[in-house]
Amino acid sequence: MTRPSRTRVAVVGGGQNCEHAVSLASAAAVADALDPTVYDVVRLTIGEDGTWHDGARVLPLGDAVAVLQSCAAVLPVVHGPRGEDGSLAALCELAGVAYVGSGVGAGALAMDKWATKLVAGALGIATAPGLLLTATSAATYAFTHPVVVKPVAAGSSHGVTLVREAAELAAALDAALALDDRVLVEDVVVGREIDVAVLGTADGARVVSPALEIVVDGWFDFDAKYGGGADFRIPAALDDVARTDLEQAALAVYDALGCAGVARVDFFVTEHGPVLNEVNTMPGFTEQSQVPKMFAAAGLSYADLLDRLVRDVLPA
Ligand SMILES: Nc1ncnc2c1ncn2[C@@H]1O[C@H](COP(=O)(O)OP(=O)(O)O)[C@@H](O)[C@H]1O
Ligand SMILES: [Mg+2]
Repeated sequence: MTRPSRTRVAVVGGGQNCEHAVSLASAAAVADALDPTVYDVVRLTIGEDGTWHDGARVLPLGDAVAVLQSCAAVLPVVHGPRGEDGSLAALCELAGVAYVGSGVGAGALAMDKWATKLVAGALGIATAPGLLLTATSAATYAFTHPVVVKPVAAGSSHGVTLVREAAELAAALDAALALDDRVLVEDVVVGREIDVAVLGTADGARVVSPALEIVVDGWFDFDAKYGGGADFRIPAALDDVARTDLEQAALAVYDALGCAGVARVDFFVTEHGPVLNEVNTMPGFTEQSQVPKMFAAAGLSYADLLDRLVRDVLPA
């Protein structure tokens, strides 16, 4: 009996940034969850030094590209700069291989929190009022009120600091500037943190997941979010108006940035309505991560979500 041929796909994890370990976890989970009767999965890893690996074997970049080209599709499960920012999409584009997720432009725009703010502003979607600083302009920035300092492009809260008083400012700027040449200084938004995922398909259909609230133990406290005390609540308790506002804003920003596949759109829900925080075009993707949990709550299993993402990009 001949076995029907399986579809060869590459799952790329790791990457050259502070989210390396998170990406390894996402990629391993994705590779494990792809149905082995349907997919022949090739696992590739990008080291923190940029070298590509196939298991223990180091692959020169040209060989890695050849492996990608031997696959019907690539799942670039690399969070952060030199991955999610469009770099991996660009590599796949140049190699002529189909890939899951956003293209070069959307990845780059969404990775850039300042560009995202400008796009949201043009759509009439609120974001935290903010200033863009570089190392030079940061030297003349004076503390006037509590702010959040963050790199323009990073992730997993690396380099993000709540500055409550003037004495904390310099260290916060240094931490953010260590990760990026450009830094955002934002007003502190007080609100519930609620995220939604948008799943788009090539035919233009869009599905918005149930909203997920990040619930922090005890009193609203920025530090608690970093301490691992946060929990997810799906669906987030929202009235119909607030839910529709979130869904419309998420869809508008997904389309304006030109996203593809799945993107997680993160908001603060304030008493004045939704405030967009950021868009993740390659969000955390273990089965316990937000996006898989949101779609699971809507009846789409982790394996089916992945299958849907891959099938959508496979050449006809
Ligand atoms: N302007 C802000 N006001 C209040 N909290 C913020 C603000 N910006 C970021 N945060 C908090 O910091 C966390 C990480 O910031 P975020 O911009 O999402 O960076 P990352 O890309 O690392 O996830 C957010 O989930 C939120 O809890
Ligand atoms: Mg975030």
